Amino acid sequence: MREIKIAPSLLAADFADLASQIAEVEDHVDWLHLDVMDGHFVPNLSFGNPVIASLRARSALRFDCHIMTTNPDAYLEETAGAGVDLVTMHIEAIPDPEPAMAKARGFGLDVGLVLNPATPESAVEPYLDLIDVVVVMSVEPGFGGQQFQPAVLGKLEKLREMVENRGLPTDIQIDGGITPETAILAVKAGANVFVAGTAIFGAESPGMAARELRRTIKENE
Ligand code: DX5
Ligand code: ZN
Repeated sequence: MREIKIAPSLLAADFADLASQIAEVEDHVDWLHLDVMDGHFVPNLSFGNPVIASLRARSALRFDCHIMTTNPDAYLEETAGAGVDLVTMHIEAIPDPEPAMAKARGFGLDVGLVLNPATPESAVEPYLDLIDVVVVMSVEPGFGGQQFQPAVLGKLEKLREMVENRGLPTDIQIDGGITPETAILAVKAGANVFVAGTAIFGAESPGMAARELRRTIKENE
C-alpha cells in the first residue's frame, strides 16, 4: 500500500514570515517542499541553503529539496549540512545522473529524479531502482500558481506501472498546479506524494487546506 504524503511548497509562503508559515502546516503535512532556483535552469530565483539551514531548527518535517539549477550537484554538501533529507534533481540538467546521485548519497541524502512535462518516463526508467522518489512536473518549473497540465497523467500511470511491476518502494511525486480537484486526477493516475504551494499557503488557513487536500485524496485513492 503506497502511503499518501502531503508536501506544501514554501514558494507560495510569505517569505518575510517563513517560520510561522511552517508552524501553520507542521502538524498537518508530511514533507516540506523547498524549491531552489538559480535563474539559469529556470527563469526565476528563490532561496538557497542558508535559508534552509535556518528553517531546519523550526521544523521536524522531512525536508524535500527540489533543485532547479543548471549544476544540481554543485552544492550538495551544503544542502546536506543545511539539514535537507531528500534532494530531487532534474534529469534534463544531468542526463547521466549516476555520479550526482552517488555524490548526494555520499553526503547522506535521499535522492530523487524530476521530469519536466515534456520529458518522457523513459529518461528515468533505468534509474528507478536507484532512487527514493520520482517527480513528475505538472507545470513548467520556475513559478508557483500555474495550471495543472493533464497531459502528464499518462506518464504518471506508466511510472506507477513500472514501479509496481518491479516491486519497488519508490514514491511518485506530482508537482505543480495541485488543488483538491487535480489531486484526484493525480492519485487515480498513481501519484502518492502531492506538492501544493498556492493551494496550501494561498489559503486563509494553510493547515486546514492541507487537511482538506489529504481527505480528498484519501477518498479517491
Ligand atoms: C515550480 C515548483 C513548484 C511550485 C508549485 O517550479 O517546483 O513546487 O511551488 O506551486 P503550485 O502548487 O502553486 O503550482
Ligand atoms: Zn517544486
